Amino acid sequence: MEAAEAAAAAAVDGEEGGVSKRSWYAVGERAVLVPYLREHVPRYHEWMQDPALLEATASEPLSLDQEFDVHRSWTLDPLKHTFIVLDKELIDGEFVVGNPHTEAMVGDVNIYMNDPDDLRLAEIEIMIAEHKRCRGKGLGQEAILIMMAFAVEKYGIHTFRAKISESNMASLKLFRKLGFKDASYSAVFKEVTLDAPAASLPLISPLTIGSW
Ligand SMILES: CC(C)(COP(=O)(O)OP(=O)(O)OC[C@H]1O[C@@H](n2cnc3c(N)ncnc32)[C@H](O)[C@@H]1OP(=O)(O)O)[C@@H](O)C(=O)NCCC(=O)NCCS
Repeated sequence: MEAAEAAAAAAVDGEEGGVSKRSWYAVGERAVLVPYLREHVPRYHEWMQDPALLEATASEPLSLDQEFDVHRSWTLDPLKHTFIVLDKELIDGEFVVGNPHTEAMVGDVNIYMNDPDDLRLAEIEIMIAEHKRCRGKGLGQEAILIMMAFAVEKYGIHTFRAKISESNMASLKLFRKLGFKDASYSAVFKEVTLDAPAASLPLISPLTIGSW
């Protein structure tokens, strides 16, 4: 493990009092964020067959076995934290802590502390994959704001960064609406980098936060 990764892992262990990063969940008004579990992988893999989602998230198509490998590496990576987003309205019965609730999974939100010079800067990504049923209901916005509040509290993040394709108007509008400012543009990748100090953001404290 690189020194930077070891430092991040130590910070995470210290801040979470020994509770694994894989076990946190957070309940909002409309969305519930749960750990990305193996049970979620087949549906996640189905989503990532959609060319539009692959383009929007700058991802490559993977086999199901490769998706399980990616899930494992994300789970083990101390610099990455991924939540699956559940739509509360789709949960069968009540939300049960420890249940992956695959019936209600609609997307994911993750942070990646990928700047070795500043492990308190996190790149954030959001995807609401179930477009027909679940986009435009505020789930993406709420999931980002809860994720960022969580990241400030658990990882001490002071700045968030989003890298978004110049053609992805929905996502650009979402991040700019929240207060992210354009920081740079890559003509090669046709991508805008937006930054926001954590202190400037309208973060949402979840209704409940806990671990299983
Ligand atoms: C971008 C995305 C996450 C938005 O999720 P969503 O749950 O539909 O968004 P919300 O309902 O929370 O909308 C919040 C704000 O986002 C913006 N927005 C969302 N969809 C939009 C659209 N189709 N056109 C323009 N603006 C849009 C608006 O500013 C909206 O606020 P408003 O309703 O007050 O105008 C979703 O479209 C998505 O997953 N896209 C594919 C993956 C992707 O592009 N990820 C971004 C990479 S970081």
